[in-house]
Amino acid sequence: MNRLFTALFAFAVACVTGLAHAQAPSPAASQAGATQPAAPAGANVQAKVAMCMGCHNIPGYRASFPEVYSVPMIAGQSAKYIAAALHAYQNGDRKHPTMRGIATTLTDQDITAIADYYAALGKEGGKPLGDQLARQPDAQVSGLMQKAACVSCHGPNLSRPIDPSYPKISGQHADYLFAALKAYKTENNPSMGRSNGVMGAIAKQFSNAELKALARYVGSLDSELHVKPESRFR
Ligand code: HEC
Ligand code: HEC
Repeated sequence: MNRLFTALFAFAVACVTGLAHAQAPSPAASQAGATQPAAPAGANVQAKVAMCMGCHNIPGYRASFPEVYSVPMIAGQSAKYIAAALHAYQNGDRKHPTMRGIATTLTDQDITAIADYYAALGKEGGKPLGDQLARQPDAQVSGLMQKAACVSCHGPNLSRPIDPSYPKISGQHADYLFAALKAYKTENNPSMGRSNGVMGAIAKQFSNAELKALARYVGSLDSELHVKPESRFR
């Protein structure tokens, strides 16, 4: 049933993508017409992003698989991480069926353009976070964070990762953070879970109750991530 849904969804997405291609001026045409103004930068990206908006640009939107949780905020996330995540859905390291269906319709060029687009979208009107955690965790969470040295990779404010292909996590939706952390513990399941050497080893050190406490604290912090409502695009 779920597989059928995924197939249908991927098909629908493929149709939308096909349409987007059809509407975008072909690169050859815009190169040939040197006197014509080039297609507005990002016109093609907008067409691709139209596919994402229905979920990622709706405040409060929730996914229902494998459990109900908020769709992650990606506006303001670092471009390299957005791209890395999309490649992970594409190659199956991340199993989430809907995102796999979508990612497999994207070319490498699409991914780079969409990642830059969402990274820049989050900077509009947002203020960067201070260098340190605005609010210290309680003793329990503090212990858990020290055990796995979260700040050593995600940054002293959990929003300045040491490598741009690592995510900003400060203030991401807590229920999504919890689902993501649990996913790193799930292996050998064809339709759920994430294979990642680094986060897999970390998440497996914690019980689900501990992951939930971590997610609740990290999600309660201020964020450089946003949901830009769909109407802002028009
Ligand atoms: C049907 C709803 C839906 C659509 C459409 C959709 N997404 Fe997603 N997206 C999700 C959900 C749900 C997740 C969380 C999946 C998981 O748990 O791994 C997600 C995860 C992601 C992530 C990983 C975020 C993170 O913090 O790791 C990225 C990046 C992403 N989507 C980008 C896109 C892009 C780009 C598009 C359009 C091309 C798109 N999504 C379309 C629902 C959607
Ligand atoms: C050694 C570096 C490292 C450490 C330490 C680390 N992380 Fe990560 N984390 C990563 C990387 C790399 C990813 C991206 C993995 C992927 O591509 O799926 C990640 C991803 C995540 C995600 C998924 C975010 C999203 O948007 O989907 C969460 C949540 C997370 N880490 C929380 C934590 C917490 C909480 C700790 C401490 C308990 C921690 N991490 C410690 C490197 C690290």
